[in-house]
Amino acid sequence: MKRFSNKSVIVTGAGRGIGLEIARTFAQNGANILMTGVNEENIKKSAETISSNYSVKAIGVKQDVSSEADCEKVVSIAEENFSHIDILVNNAGITRDNLVLRMKEKDFEDVIAVNLKGPFLMSKHVFRIMSKQRSGRIINISSVVGQSGQAGQANYASSKAGLIGLTKSLAKEFAKRNVNVNSVSPGFIETDMTASLDEKTKASILSQIPLKRMGKPYDVAAAVLFLAGEESSYITGQIIAVNGGIYI
Ligand SMILES: NC(=O)c1ccc[n+]([C@@H]2O[C@H](COP(=O)([O-])OP(=O)(O)OC[C@H]3O[C@@H](n4cnc5c(N)ncnc54)[C@H](O)[C@@H]3O)[C@@H](O)[C@H]2O)c1
Repeated sequence: MKRFSNKSVIVTGAGRGIGLEIARTFAQNGANILMTGVNEENIKKSAETISSNYSVKAIGVKQDVSSEADCEKVVSIAEENFSHIDILVNNAGITRDNLVLRMKEKDFEDVIAVNLKGPFLMSKHVFRIMSKQRSGRIINISSVVGQSGQAGQANYASSKAGLIGLTKSLAKEFAKRNVNVNSVSPGFIETDMTASLDEKTKASILSQIPLKRMGKPYDVAAAVLFLAGEESSYITGQIIAVNGGIYI
């Protein structure tokens, strides 16, 4: 029996990067997974690979987390296929970086819609099921810049700071139904999102990280699995930083 056998998990934005690694790590530990992403072909292919590598049920569904209809659809598909939903990981996120004076209103709104409204909508619809089950875990992927602030990322930092407020509020509201809500706050992790940073910026970031390396997607996945497992049943409303010490 594996650690997450008979558990079912939804991971949003799981077509690549941190979300894909979270889905893979859950599957490796025996969980069935519903993975979502904006690119239908990519998310279905990723789910097929996970399903054949780990002999679990893995379903890929196209979704825009900022659409309430899409969030309802994803939760219904998970319910139909798994009959229960044990864990939701709100991982999907985007950046639209710019200095405030050059930042378009739409760049602000799009980032808030995906990074903050998305987790609100997914949590709302998943809670309908978790509240009946009287058990569940919700884990929100925020960011170090939501805690520290960051020039050039007013939209992104606001969305991630908001996600921390959402995490704490949901933790208080959902606790009576035995649903724990926590957040993992990554620092700089090696993914496509950070691959676009120029060498000078990367060197400057590295010089500020006490552990002297960028994080790996698995570093984040390991913290997510901890917050989804039995050993964390008395933890709710917390923000676990996985950042190499860049913000303490
Ligand atoms: N990489 C980092 O250094 C870092 C640091 C802190 C926090 N994070 C956060 O971790 C999460 C994953 O980051 P990543 O680096 O893997 O990013 P990524 O860009 O590699 O992957 C993001 C995923 O989200 C999906 N996505 C984007 N918009 C979506 C939408 N509207 N609906 C559904 N899915 C959507 C994309 O298809 C993609 O698969 C994000 O929330 C990000 O903000 C990343």
